[in-house]
Amino acid sequence: MDKLVIEGGRTLNGEIAVSGSKNAALPILFASILLDSPCTFSNVPDLRDIHTTLKLLHLLGVPCTYENHTVRSEPGELIPEAPYDLVRTMRASVLCLGPLLARIGLARVALPGGCAIGARPVDQHLKGLELMGAHFDLEGGNILGSCEKLTGARIVFDMVTVGGTENLLMAAVLADGETILENAACEPEIVDLANFLVACGADISGQGTSVIRVRGVPSLSGTSYAVMPDRIEAGTFLAAAGITGGRLLVKNCPYDELKAVIAKLEEMGMSITHHPGGVLAECGQLGLSGTEVETRPYPGFPTDMQAQIMALMTVAKGASVVEERIFENRFMHVLELMRMGARIKVSGHTAMVHGVPTLTGAPVMASDLRASASLVLAGLAARGTTEVRRIYHLDRGYECIENKLNAVGACIRRAEQ
Ligand code: UD1
Repeated sequence: MDKLVIEGGRTLNGEIAVSGSKNAALPILFASILLDSPCTFSNVPDLRDIHTTLKLLHLLGVPCTYENHTVRSEPGELIPEAPYDLVRTMRASVLCLGPLLARIGLARVALPGGCAIGARPVDQHLKGLELMGAHFDLEGGNILGSCEKLTGARIVFDMVTVGGTENLLMAAVLADGETILENAACEPEIVDLANFLVACGADISGQGTSVIRVRGVPSLSGTSYAVMPDRIEAGTFLAAAGITGGRLLVKNCPYDELKAVIAKLEEMGMSITHHPGGVLAECGQLGLSGTEVETRPYPGFPTDMQAQIMALMTVAKGASVVEERIFENRFMHVLELMRMGARIKVSGHTAMVHGVPTLTGAPVMASDLRASASLVLAGLAARGTTEVRRIYHLDRGYECIENKLNAVGACIRRAEQ
């Protein structure tokens, strides 16, 4: 197992590039199950979750190759079996359910189980697929789904769910008739998935709004598609400029998709401007000051940036408040930040942060993907050495983060834990 050793207190300066979006690439790759001809996907980040997905697709009968951020998939004979060993390492594996049912009317997918940031059930995925004619049994920890042909339906989600919307969207594109998804998620990654499906021949409208209409088509063919840039990685880099008092030009930064994050960083005192070459993020003359953030479905402030902005709040002047509204139990970075000298008090889903003049380096433990990013940010700003342990979480979502940050002035090395 690896750890990152960070020598803090260096100002970051220069250009840094954003990779393809993990959360957009995952559903788009699962959508290759729906295709009846080869497909090419570019700008696919080189991340553990992507390789897990490719392994799973291979087992499901969709052989894929990965080279130089490009995936090529071939249609094959589908095998409706997603084993627990893979599913337990990546909850997004459940995204094969909709495509398998749409294509062959059969799916046996291990139930993902809980994870570090809460229970994260899949009831909305199953409820929607049942309305389209699927039937589910639970057998030995596996969801066993079967159906004749899926038929279009009106599905009203009980809550906004990104994965649920993606699974139903993929199920609906090959179903008989029209499906209407209401209270659908509006996240840019859903729009990217829908745009990909449309490029393959699907008939979808309303993506990016809370009502998505899908008219089923008989088949979909492969295309060439570039995955959108990762807005969370980009947001993390903007935050890195702020916490180190630096100046970063973030290239391939999806500016429009980051408006809620940028607004908060500006409120904290950063200057963020959109240029043709990228987004320029600078820490203002007066340093950072506290703010209030509440996580919400898109276009609200993303839960996936909550831990990172909290790292900034720990060294911002005055008080800040964070309310986590999407996931229970997503404050596990708090105790680790406190080991570095942060002053934070958690009560239910609210964290009160009182900024301190400086953090002090310490050994800390990463508990999930975004918590890890927040500890890296804290380590960049801290006096002395920070060791971030269990960084396999970080490797699930950030491509070569230490190389990218070192190229703009950080001092981070990867070592064996
Ligand atoms: C996706 C993202 C994740 C992000 C999250 C919220 C991927 C691979 N992951 O996760 O990075 O943090 O969106 O923006 O894209 N829920 C239910 N029942 C369901 C489905 C969800 O109760 O059937 C609840 C969840 O427990 C959670 C909330 O709804 O509290 C939102 O979850 P959801 O949007 O589905 O998150 P994911 O798709 O798992």
